[in-house]
Amino acid sequence: MNTPTDSTHGTDVLAVKDEGQENAVDRVLVLEMVRVTEAAAVAAAQLIGRGDEKAADAAAVEAMRRAFDNLYMDGTVVIGEGERDEAPMLYIGEKVGGAPGKGPKIDIALDPLEGTTITAKAGPNSLAVLAAAEEGCLLNAPDVYMDKLAVGPGLPADIIDLAKSATENVKAVAAAKDKDPSDINVCVLDRPRHASLIAELRALGCGVYLIGDGDVAGVIAVTDQDTGIDMYMGQGGAPEGVLAAAALRCVGGQFNGRLVFRNDDEKARARKWGITDLDRIYKLEDLAGGDCIFAATGVTDGSLLAGVKKRKKSTGATIMTTESVVMRASSGTVRWIRGEHRISPHKAG
Ligand code: FBP
Repeated sequence: MNTPTDSTHGTDVLAVKDEGQENAVDRVLVLEMVRVTEAAAVAAAQLIGRGDEKAADAAAVEAMRRAFDNLYMDGTVVIGEGERDEAPMLYIGEKVGGAPGKGPKIDIALDPLEGTTITAKAGPNSLAVLAAAEEGCLLNAPDVYMDKLAVGPGLPADIIDLAKSATENVKAVAAAKDKDPSDINVCVLDRPRHASLIAELRALGCGVYLIGDGDVAGVIAVTDQDTGIDMYMGQGGAPEGVLAAAALRCVGGQFNGRLVFRNDDEKARARKWGITDLDRIYKLEDLAGGDCIFAATGVTDGSLLAGVKKRKKSTGATIMTTESVVMRASSGTVRWIRGEHRISPHKAG
């Protein structure tokens, strides 16, 4: 299968590096990241609607792991599939990339399949996603919940504050947008734990856009006027919070995140990763600092990206089409990339 894991590509990147073009290597790496998310998405897509979350996740993990080998970098997974004893591949601390000890030192936060349940049920908005940054620039978020609050670009600095109530935040955003609070639409994960938040928002007259899963796409939706979503609120995974924050660093917007601990074991996990202030409210730069990159490929159709589709070409070849986005914080460049991956007949040679 001609997946994005084609091994010739890493050679091109190495050649650039050998000419000593450090910046060129970095720029090549940005685009190369899409090959990694494409590989994971294509693999997971074979299992859309098959009711098997674990199999879909495992396929994405394995494909992503292999695709990393073609990248000229000395990468370290800082947010991954779990701790070493829990995850066979892409565990926290695992070295990835084809140039250990030689290439640029890059920290990676990844979720090969963000939305395992969505994929198993063929629902909307599952993604293969990663963020990458210079060593030490991504928060090593433990796998706990995070309170999240986000708005898109173009609003006064510090317009949102997680220390304030949902009502206060909606009113502040409404005033800045010259709207009534009842005109504000808020995306929230549909969970029993959000019952009082949803009631508070509905009491203000807000539109509450409930999503079943996939809060990386949910948070990013605030940056796209076409979604009609003004704010994101509620608790979701902390690793997903870092991934979404990386995207907002690139396209603009504001984010507040605070880790939520349900027991002492979760607190101990956080301390193990160097987090001492357990009540801290993190902003974008605290979660994804430096020159960070965000890359995602749609697995199922969603507000951000179209999902993977299988098509037959007039030539008789069967292809998988992908839609991806890759963004870089330092330049603010956002690239939308459509790929066609031939799966049969197999590539010659
Ligand atoms: P998975 O890909 O692990 O299924 O996560 C999906 C997701 O909806 C995330 O987007 C979100 O952050 C988290 O789960 C919410 O967790 P929970 O399902 O426990 O409320």
